[in-house]
Amino acid sequence: MRHFITPTDFTDKETQMVLDLAERIAANPAKYSHVAEGKKLATLFYEPSTRTRLSFESAMLSLGGTTLGFSGADQSSATKGETVADTARVVSCYADIIAMRHPKEGAPLCASMFSRVPVINAGDGGHSHPTQTLIDLMTIRQRKKRLDHLTIGFCGDLKFGRTVHSLVNSLVRYPDNRFYFISPEELRIPDYLIEDTLIPAGSRYMEVTCLEDTLPKLNVLYMTRVQKERFFNEDDYLRLKGIYTLTADKLQLASADMPVLHPLPRVDEIAMDVDQDSRAAYFDQVQNGVYIRMALIMMLLGLAEPQT
Ligand code: NCD
Repeated sequence: MRHFITPTDFTDKETQMVLDLAERIAANPAKYSHVAEGKKLATLFYEPSTRTRLSFESAMLSLGGTTLGFSGADQSSATKGETVADTARVVSCYADIIAMRHPKEGAPLCASMFSRVPVINAGDGGHSHPTQTLIDLMTIRQRKKRLDHLTIGFCGDLKFGRTVHSLVNSLVRYPDNRFYFISPEELRIPDYLIEDTLIPAGSRYMEVTCLEDTLPKLNVLYMTRVQKERFFNEDDYLRLKGIYTLTADKLQLASADMPVLHPLPRVDEIAMDVDQDSRAAYFDQVQNGVYIRMALIMMLLGLAEPQT
């Protein structure tokens, strides 16, 4: 039985297999509308979410399966003191696969050790968000036709942004990717990402503070929101929010084929006037999210691809 807790749980080849399957699903979703009939997905969301939970549910329904779950710790027995381990044991009697989001780093990993069915990490604290990473890879591959030899700029809250952490872990595996990390000092990438990921991979990277100076150098820009819920101090959040805003004017500094990604929700880091620009790829990511999750559910449940 396989779980999906961090993006590197899949080899490069397996990652490519999921992306390829997601592309085939995107080309003909109707063909896959019965492959998970009789299967149940449990969404255990201990933290707020619109996209990720609905996208998982939409994916399972699109495969002909059904869903059950909760969308807030206050709706679960966590309020009575039940451990994640016990909840995982219990829910694996009710469902064939589990998607879990949790504010504590490592909670989905813990669940996977006690579950009798595959567990997917749908975001754990500031740590990882591997399904978002697959979505980001699919979107970059569609736009740039490759996942290597790219200069990628990550901008915003690089300290707490789990989507950044997991995407960097994945992108270092492809040859000659280079990184610009654009953030204020307080929100720079964690040291562990440098020491455990970037240095061992031999990746070239720069930490900078100015978005405008960096834009012309990039093949891909990944914007992020300042992660309000992970701040210990409201004043720090208020001081740092709104520190970067990408506008249509600033986007003129970038190359004509530099996609702009954002995992969403956005607050004010991308102005609405960017939405009309063909480089805005963040709504493609949302659509790709359903196809990626359909592909992932099929892989983890070992569901065969229909022949016709
Ligand atoms: C991200 C998350 O939850 O980490 N959202 C998402 O799943 N698409 C990014 C964020 O909340 O800023």
